[in-house]
Amino acid sequence: MSLLIKNIKALLQLREGGELKVSGKAMAELPQLNNAWLLTDGDIILDYGAMDSFDTALEQAPAGIRQIDADGKMLLPAFCDSHTHLVYPASREIEYIDKIRGLSYEEIAKRGGGILNSAGKMHEASEEELIISAMVRLEEIMGYGTAAVEIKSGYGLNTEDELKMLRVIRKLKELSPVRIISTFLGAHAIPGEYKGRQEAYVDLIINEMIPEVAAEELADYIDVFCDRGFFTVKDTDRILNAGMKHGLRPKIHANELDFSGGIQVGVKYNALSVDHLEYTGEEEIKALSGSETMPTLLPGASFFLGLIYAPARKMIDAGLPVAMASDFNPGSSPSGNMQFILSLGSIAYRMLPEEAINAVTLNGACAMGLSEEMGSIGKGKKANLIITKDIPSYEFLPYAYGSDKVETVIIGGKVVVEKST
Ligand code: NIG
Ligand code: FE
Repeated sequence: MSLLIKNIKALLQLREGGELKVSGKAMAELPQLNNAWLLTDGDIILDYGAMDSFDTALEQAPAGIRQIDADGKMLLPAFCDSHTHLVYPASREIEYIDKIRGLSYEEIAKRGGGILNSAGKMHEASEEELIISAMVRLEEIMGYGTAAVEIKSGYGLNTEDELKMLRVIRKLKELSPVRIISTFLGAHAIPGEYKGRQEAYVDLIINEMIPEVAAEELADYIDVFCDRGFFTVKDTDRILNAGMKHGLRPKIHANELDFSGGIQVGVKYNALSVDHLEYTGEEEIKALSGSETMPTLLPGASFFLGLIYAPARKMIDAGLPVAMASDFNPGSSPSGNMQFILSLGSIAYRMLPEEAINAVTLNGACAMGLSEEMGSIGKGKKANLIITKDIPSYEFLPYAYGSDKVETVIIGGKVVVEKST
């Protein structure tokens, strides 16, 4: 199947130079072509050009091709959400009331709420129930414009339930048109029965969970929540070392609650990304500079929990790349809406519209190891595209926060979402 999209007001994020990410000043650039057409072939982008060369499009297009008139609308790569926990057994709005009354995320966790609350329910949930609820969430984020998403385990916290979560994620890969990347996060919290015996739980992760996850090829990456009150740098070092021996590259949670040393240990193991980074100072920026690790910011968690925001501006001004992801999970960010994340990038981090768009497309794809294929528009890249509603400019995308600016979503060359206007 092929599609021909014409009269596109602007084709955004055009990259033919092989860029796999953009860093520092280059984040403020968003290459574009005005008044354009784009032609797909199967699941890829075949060609594009300005409307005055529309004849070229028609020559290449097969007879009877579906044409979409995008007059007044813009075309951009679909969002790449590189950090979520969207397989979970139940929402946690009731414990959120404690949060509204003034308890912190850590205090709720210490009382057995938080991740441990989800782990208890995870144990009771069947694979089928988990698949059904996760498919609903995948449908929802697709409607907001997401075409690729990373999903973590981490609500199992024992071998059997961690494997159950990862098998659910594997099934979702088959069922959903959204491209899914899976990450093993056995080290998300210390389960109640290991309280005071943290090292024994780390041993279980290393000696039992990682070998089984690797043997069944259930995960693309490995994660550790390296932070105050959760896993130490030493725990993280041991787990990442074991993961590396099984070919699992890290993508870790770091520095959400304190200067945890998580960023440095992530860089030491050549992590694909280090995520959260609310507590990032000169030392951390130095560690990240020149590394291959993508700093990934999750403004939804700061917004929802009332935490400080990561110093995105300082990071970009220091020449670093930055990606943004939703962190969709029931405790710290119960939304997978990447349009809102894009807005938060500008509102809370003071990122320019171009920087914020780069952070949720190309750099987000890079943080999943997918930027050769997606996150930008180019010949031969995946036809994962958003057609916007009729909008005045691309700057309108972060500016008009809370309103839905997406009209059509195309994944792998297929129209998967079409809203009536
Ligand atoms: O990324 N920080 C740790 N993990 C998640 C929260 C998970 C939960 O509360 O269920 C996060 O914010
Ligand atoms: Fe997270």
